[in-house]
Amino acid sequence: MSPSLRRGLLTGIALLFVNLLLPCVHGAAAAAATGKTKISSVFVFGDSIVDPGNNNNRLTEAKADFPPYGQDFPGGKATGRFSNGRVPGDMLASGLGIKELLPPYIGVDLQLNDLLTGVVFASGGSGYDPLTSIPATATSSTGQLELFLDYKERLKALVGEEETARVISEGVYFTVMGANDLANNYFTIPLRRHQYDLPSYVKFLVSSAVNFTMKLNEMGAKRIGFIGIPPIGCCPSQRELGSRECEPMRNQAAQLFNSEIMKEIHRLNAQQSIPGSKFAYLDIYYNLLDLIQRPGFYGFKEVAEGCCGSTVLNAAIFIKYHPACPNVNDYIFWDSFHPTEKAYKIVVDKLFQQDMQDLM
Ligand SMILES: *[C@@H]1O[C@H](CO)[C@@H](O)[C@H](O)[C@H]1NC(C)=O
Repeated sequence: MSPSLRRGLLTGIALLFVNLLLPCVHGAAAAAATGKTKISSVFVFGDSIVDPGNNNNRLTEAKADFPPYGQDFPGGKATGRFSNGRVPGDMLASGLGIKELLPPYIGVDLQLNDLLTGVVFASGGSGYDPLTSIPATATSSTGQLELFLDYKERLKALVGEEETARVISEGVYFTVMGANDLANNYFTIPLRRHQYDLPSYVKFLVSSAVNFTMKLNEMGAKRIGFIGIPPIGCCPSQRELGSRECEPMRNQAAQLFNSEIMKEIHRLNAQQSIPGSKFAYLDIYYNLLDLIQRPGFYGFKEVAEGCCGSTVLNAAIFIKYHPACPNVNDYIFWDSFHPTEKAYKIVVDKLFQQDMQDLM
């Protein structure tokens, strides 16, 4: 791309963000009127459910910056998002009135406005367990916290300490991890199964998740939305081979993690080790399961197979330039692990109707 074209594009993007930010000013006024705390930025940590392209320049299999990914994204662009269109981080930022797309922190030219309104640190293949990120060469959960520190320093250099503190305290933070710990690490690689039985591995994950949340809280995050683990046994790649039923052990493991982390979130709220903190559990287990159990209600026809295929090799770099199905809106799953934009949108809309007020 020529420098002048690039500059033109960046100006265009900057203008777009100015336009998108205008509704936010009204949103802030409305928040002040109702006595709720202002929200000015969104930050997301996690795995490929929310990674918008942080892995693009990494040597990893967990990438999606090529077709058919992004076929329904604005401009048909494969940005690195692991779906046919927008992903939950975008929808959360949009639903909160901040901006339409939540960019990755890594590998793109971020403008000051992007930094002020929030970014994503998530990395495809990541998990709470540090071992999970190694085979995927993803940025671990600890690595993502280090990126957040880096972000804070960068912002401080641009706008100063006081303004940075304001941005951080007016932010809403989401974490979406755990699916890879169970599906890719525990159930696939024997290492952890030699060390732990399932309940003790889940306990270890819950403890790691709590420690992650507390560190984020200590780094200045006051409002943390904790998104649980989806029904991973119902992903096309994890279903029973013959019957194509959801695999029950994987779903039970996800449910166990979710019920344990919910208790911990109640405890963190009661404890208030940093006053003014709010933690909320946001359910995607039952919300996604409802789509799978009542597809017709939501306008889906295919629940068990992915639009790009269904084996463990029907995702990420393994489907580079492979054709997608012709009728993506019939599908809950885009590839063998990740939902379609349509499914994500329904689930995120439900989060706004159900639990989001706990963070306001
Ligand atoms: C979480 O932190 C506690 C207290 O520092 C520590 O004892 C525990 O081992 C940590 N959990 C994990 C899984 O690292």
